[in-house]
Order: sequence, then structure tokens, then C-alpha cells
Amino acid sequence: MAVGIKSVDEIEKMRVAGRLAAQVLDMIAPYIKPGISTNKLDKLCHDYIVDIQEAIPAPLNYHGFPKSICTSINNVVCHGIPNERKLKKGDIVNIDITIIKDGYHGDTSKMFIIGKSSVKAQRICRIAKECLYIGIEKVKPGIHLGKIGRAIGAHAIKNNCSIVRDYCGHGIGSTFHAEPQVLHYDDGAVGASTILEAGMTFTIEPMVNLGSFEVTTSKIDNWTVTTKDHCLSAQWEHTILVTKNGYEILTLRDEEIDTHMLK
Ligand code: MF3
Ligand code: CO
Ligand code: CO
Repeated sequence: MAVGIKSVDEIEKMRVAGRLAAQVLDMIAPYIKPGISTNKLDKLCHDYIVDIQEAIPAPLNYHGFPKSICTSINNVVCHGIPNERKLKKGDIVNIDITIIKDGYHGDTSKMFIIGKSSVKAQRICRIAKECLYIGIEKVKPGIHLGKIGRAIGAHAIKNNCSIVRDYCGHGIGSTFHAEPQVLHYDDGAVGASTILEAGMTFTIEPMVNLGSFEVTTSKIDNWTVTTKDHCLSAQWEHTILVTKNGYEILTLRDEEIDTHMLK
């Protein structure tokens, strides 16, 4: 299926939406401490998005998802539903924010480490972040989409980690999940995949496991995805625009400006 090219006007709306999503992560960061429940984080984000940003939390009621953000702790890979569980020292948690402003989506997530955590917890968070940036750095017009996944997959393998295959990045704009599918591993079909063009917008959001890549979805809530072997999993996500020369990270946070070159 064809991948849409955004107009100048749409790109401006994507910039606004991306910035707002990034600002939610900045807003919530100081609250992510031992003892806070993920429900409380959800409420804080919901109220900030609705009342301050005058935007819409995209997950709420999306295919029946019951909350405004996803909170995925330890062996939860993605789509964790906020609840009364409190964060505790040693946990790692992914907070995934998607907002809609003026009809356009911004989607981003990052890992938080609660207190002092194990070396392996820190390692999986770091490798997942490196996987995201290694993927982003491949983005420019004219490359096959598959090149992104190949680079990410190679970095995971090099570090004895595995990449989740059941979920991928996605085109994004006026719809939350659109074409193309952005794989985070090498599926061998690089030649057949989309060629990037300036004006495309999509997410890159590698889910990286310390053990096997296999995952299961909860039979109870039909959302929570966990690693089959109960190993830790980490994920980082940005919304990316393909530009004339490379890329623009639409959901870049201030804390990343120093550490990451803007192209
Ligand atoms: N934000 C997730 C993504 O990166 C999707 C969450 S869907 C929800 O694509 F329904 F669980 F919110
Ligand atoms: Co996404
Ligand atoms: Co997301």
C-alpha cells in the first residue's frame, strides 16, 4: 500500500503534536518515583493533555483501551494498562504517550529506572535506546525502509538481546497507526520494502528483550504484552519526519538536544 506524503501544512501540525507528546514525558518525569501508582501517572498525564495542552490522549478508548497512557513495567513489553500497582525501587517502566492535536498524532515513549536498579535492568534500557537512535540515523530519502530494521536488529544481536517481532513502528499522521509497518529486525525482504521519501512520517519504537523475542498477550485484559520467558524488556519510541537531507525527530525532548545531532 502507498505511504502518504505530508503537505507543508500537515508537517507543521505533526511538529506541534510531536512537541506536545514530548512535553508530556517531561512533565511526568519528576513524578516517577517509588510509591506512585501507574493510575496516578495516567491521571496526571490525562489532565495535563486535556486541560493544559487542550489535546486528546489517543490511547483512551482506542480499540477499547481503557486508559490515556501505556505503562509497561519490567517483563511487560508494551500496552501495559495503568492500575493501582505502585512503582518500586529496581523497577523499569516504559511510559508511552500519544496525543492528538488539531487532528494529528505525536507518539513517543521512554524508559524510566526507579531508584537503584540492577546492572541488567540498566543495560536493557540502554541497549533499547541505542537501537532507537541507530534506526533513526539510517533515515533519509531514497533508502529502503528495511535498512532501519536491519541496523536495529544487528545491534540487538551484537549485544545478545532479541527484538520483538509481533509489534512494529508505524506510519502516523491523522491516523494513529498507518502504513508503512516499520520492522525493528531484518525480515530478509529489504528489496521489496518501501523507499523513503521526504514528507513521510512514521514511528521507530524497538522493543528489546534480555531473553527470547517471544511474547504473549494477557488473556485477562487482552492488552498487556509480556515476554514469554519473563525476562526484562525495554522500549523507546520517537515520531520521525523524513526530510530532504535526512530526518527530523518530531518528539525530541530538550534533554536529548545535546546528546543527539539534529540532521
Ligand atoms: N502508543 C502505542 C504505539 O506506540 C500504541 C498504544 S495503543 C493503545 O503504537 F491502545 F494501547 F494505547
Ligand atoms: Co507507536
Ligand atoms: Co507509542
